[in-house]
Amino acid sequence: MPYMMGIDVGTTGTRAVIVRPDGHVVGAATGDHQPMRMSKPGWAEQDPGDWWQATLVAIRAALEQASLKGSDIAAVGFSGQMHGVVLLDKAFAVLRPSLIWCDQRSQAQCDWITGQVGAERLIQYVSNPALTGFSAPKILWVRDNEPKIYKRVAHFLLPKDFVRFRLTGEFATDVSDASGTLLFDVTHRRWSSEMLGALEIDSHILPRVYESPEVTGEITQEAAVLTGLNAGTPVVAGAGDQAASAVGNGIVLPGLTSATLGTSGVIFSYTASPTLDPRGRIHTFCHAVPGKWHVMGVTQGAGLSLRWFRDHFGAAESWYGRQTDVDPYELIIREAEKVPPGSEGLLWQPYLMGERTPHLDAQARGLWFGLTASHTRAHLIRSILEGVAFSLRDSLEIFKELAIPVEQIRVSGGGSRSFLWRQIQADVYGKEVVTLRTSEGSALGAALLAGVGAGVYASVEDSARDAIQVKERLAPKADQVAVYDRYYQVYRNLYPAVQELSHTLAKLGAGES
Ligand code: XUL
Repeated sequence: MPYMMGIDVGTTGTRAVIVRPDGHVVGAATGDHQPMRMSKPGWAEQDPGDWWQATLVAIRAALEQASLKGSDIAAVGFSGQMHGVVLLDKAFAVLRPSLIWCDQRSQAQCDWITGQVGAERLIQYVSNPALTGFSAPKILWVRDNEPKIYKRVAHFLLPKDFVRFRLTGEFATDVSDASGTLLFDVTHRRWSSEMLGALEIDSHILPRVYESPEVTGEITQEAAVLTGLNAGTPVVAGAGDQAASAVGNGIVLPGLTSATLGTSGVIFSYTASPTLDPRGRIHTFCHAVPGKWHVMGVTQGAGLSLRWFRDHFGAAESWYGRQTDVDPYELIIREAEKVPPGSEGLLWQPYLMGERTPHLDAQARGLWFGLTASHTRAHLIRSILEGVAFSLRDSLEIFKELAIPVEQIRVSGGGSRSFLWRQIQADVYGKEVVTLRTSEGSALGAALLAGVGAGVYASVEDSARDAIQVKERLAPKADQVAVYDRYYQVYRNLYPAVQELSHTLAKLGAGES
């Protein structure tokens, strides 16, 4: 039987899964990453070499867990955290740590890009506005602030494509991940010579672009020794983590939408043609389904909000979790069950790393609003779960404005493991929330794309039909929908009311006057 391997180079770790053609996962393992370095507010860096080491750990452990040999794997596919900038010199050495997706330092470069190209022409060239999250402003930050390093740049790669390079020796990427660079003509699915010209970025540093299921190379002899995979195993282009997760959730047809709660939170819908928000609040990117597109809204601090709470206020749960092997998040969320919907008048605004949708504002800041002496730790926790769901609803409201159909929402990612968080999502979105038999999301999507490349499935759509099954359907509860609707009206008016103060505070926090 052919098995496919999906490798997801995430933020907190790299995960390898081995999948049968019917979608059953026979082996899965994660290699952890060092925590992202945040040496200044809004900065976030990781070492590409760390992703590579984690990949080796994950592949070996997944093969061992599945009791399979490298020769059993028909093809390998990738998923990866998007937008991160990996810069290599001509001897292929990494020039500096990667500025990753949530790094917010490049607002000046975004302003420069918008001035240089023009806001309207930006949308015409690359379908999206200049945002600190995207790659091009990060590349320009290096050019402006570290010119000696920039001079030596011979190759730019996205995170998963750096791992691909180490596995196959090829410089390649895929259309979905390339869409998040701000250098890619999303409508025509090719690098934008207009953007490259306007920003004076040399096209020679860019990798070759493929559709997601296309084969980009093979596992090298050297990588075979290190991983246990067979030399010559085909490797497909794969996709950015959101498009890959959409494939793993079967979001390959109109009307289907996903909510992925990882470190970031993303609402994602399939579209048959490029659908643009004239205000640029949601992203319009190429899908991993060849010749199709998608829209997505992004909350920077989704799972991150709860991780931040666990790291700073959850020492007891973390300790107990270590002793008993119970997930500390489970213990923390259990406490929130005691509190009614709406957290008795407490709102959490999850802007711990600025915010993309709907504010496009790197200087947005997190906030608890409505605190009273009667609120407890349990209220703080529940308000975090609710605030993240409210911030994702902001994206759904924009989809509604743009007449993008949303019939059902498929949830995945770490945040989908909790029943309470799933019910909160159903009630805040007012939609049926569905989980699937396999919750591997992006790593599964990467494996399915590998299956299409290896000829196991005729198309990405066929892979979803064969490998994806619904496990649970949660209907929204009418009384709670009504409560959350009222809270949401306060939530959506909150940030506009404090935006100016938030900017002042962000500047003070960064030591600027
Ligand atoms: C998508 C995005 C995140 C990262 C990390 O635009 O920034 O999904 O890919 O998960």
